[in-house]
Amino acid sequence: MSDAALDVVEFLLTTSVYSDDRTLDENDLPPSFRRVYWTGGVDDEDGSGDGDGGGSGRKPAGISRPLSVTTTTAREATGVDRPWEAVSELMFTERDEFSGTITLAQQGMAEEWFAERVDDDRLLENPTLAKHFENHDDYDFAVTHEEARERNRPIQADRVWIDGLLNEYFDEEDDEEMLDLVEVRAPEEVDMSLDDLVLTEDQQNELNKISKAIEHRDYLANIGLREIGKLLFVGPPGTGKTSTAQALAQDMDLPFVEVKLSMITSQYLGETAKNVDKTFEVAKRLSPCILFIDEFDFVAKTRRSDEHAALKRAVNTLLKSIDNISLIEDDVLLIGATNHPDQLDDAAWRRFDEIINFPKPDRGMRADILGLITRTMDIDEFDPQLIAEVTEGLTGSDLRMVLREAVLEALTEDRTTLTQEDLMNAVEEFEERDTLKNMDMMGGDHDALVAGGDLGDAASDGGEPSDHSHDHDHDHDH
Ligand SMILES: Nc1ncnc2c1ncn2[C@@H]1O[C@H](COP(=O)(O)OP(=O)(O)OP(=O)(O)O)[C@@H](O)[C@H]1O
Ligand SMILES: [Mg+2]
Repeated sequence: MSDAALDVVEFLLTTSVYSDDRTLDENDLPPSFRRVYWTGGVDDEDGSGDGDGGGSGRKPAGISRPLSVTTTTAREATGVDRPWEAVSELMFTERDEFSGTITLAQQGMAEEWFAERVDDDRLLENPTLAKHFENHDDYDFAVTHEEARERNRPIQADRVWIDGLLNEYFDEEDDEEMLDLVEVRAPEEVDMSLDDLVLTEDQQNELNKISKAIEHRDYLANIGLREIGKLLFVGPPGTGKTSTAQALAQDMDLPFVEVKLSMITSQYLGETAKNVDKTFEVAKRLSPCILFIDEFDFVAKTRRSDEHAALKRAVNTLLKSIDNISLIEDDVLLIGATNHPDQLDDAAWRRFDEIINFPKPDRGMRADILGLITRTMDIDEFDPQLIAEVTEGLTGSDLRMVLREAVLEALTEDRTTLTQEDLMNAVEEFEERDTLKNMDMMGGDHDALVAGGDLGDAASDGGEPSDHSHDHDHDHDH
């Protein structure tokens, strides 16, 4: 019997048990199942359900019983293309030709059939069935309802739930500005994991510390240690600050709420303070979650200068909101990030209990990063150590760019196998690019501004100061 049949039978059993047992709630359903039935207090607009009375405004949030199974819901929940065909030969299934609903004619037989084909691990992924089989005299699975609940991702981490919540907090007119200011990603939508990152020992220790703190929140609350769980990531661009925050979200299965501080200055300034407030409210409602505030130095800048009053108000609201949110009480882990720690004043520093440094990678780390980002590739004579030696000063992000360049170059020769030489060339290419970036295009004395000039010299102080480039002897292009 195929896996498809097993998946569909599991779905049928689950919906049936769930419909009967009113002590079960949405967190007893595996995410892919509850997604099908969840109405998030939102206008029913995507037409995925059976759309009763569209346009009738908001439905209450939740899952209403009984859960009925149609070909469509079964397909959505299990990913099985033709769900009825998958189970139609089983004795205990039934389909109503008229309504298209699929049911279990004989639940007992279905249970027996299912129990013969699954192990404890599989059952633990489904709290509804774990509970059903836990105390069942006829079966002896070594599972508990509690353990299955703990393993199951909570509804708060599901996209449908997040959308419902955002809809509740931000009505349509607010939508645009809110979307500029904050972005919420479900853990399933974050495609960055800790395995994709090379971290310093220091970073690793700090991250361990924080996940321990999260694990023992109750203990910390009991002993009155509340000032914990606000991290500041400090380091130059491209050193992995955003990636690490995202990877943490994925690792701990938490929603990722990102506030883009630069958007505070957007055209909707008047409403911003209110929206900052709401963003923190949303984070609290989404909790446990990670609240990531990028470009934190922005706060300092606006506090110092005599900016627009509305902007000041927004920033003050932000600071106050940060004070009022806590990992221990609200289950929100706050992570700030900045490229310019020097610009932060004491008031800003004081708000973070751990500062985590994101330096540019040293040689060993560069080699590790190279190994990591090329792990799925074929590279002839690959020697990451050698490349690490000639890439002093490059960040993880730069190394990715080098690799991309090498891949694209090779493709122009229709090659999908790279060589060490491709990479070395790409490093050189990257350095030229970097030189261009750092050049003052209006300034006079740059060979690089003249076609055919040697880029390699442009950054050095070799040339005669303040002379115009056409005085140089390799000015052969004029
Ligand atoms: N230590 C690292 N290990 C692996 N990949 C890295 C590392 N550092 C950076 N990268 C890669 O570089 C890219 C950019 O990193 P990221 O956006 O996290 O940097 P950032 O520190 O947030 O930069 P910015 O300050 O500009 O926001 C990502 O694709 C990331 O995977
Ligand atoms: Mg970043």
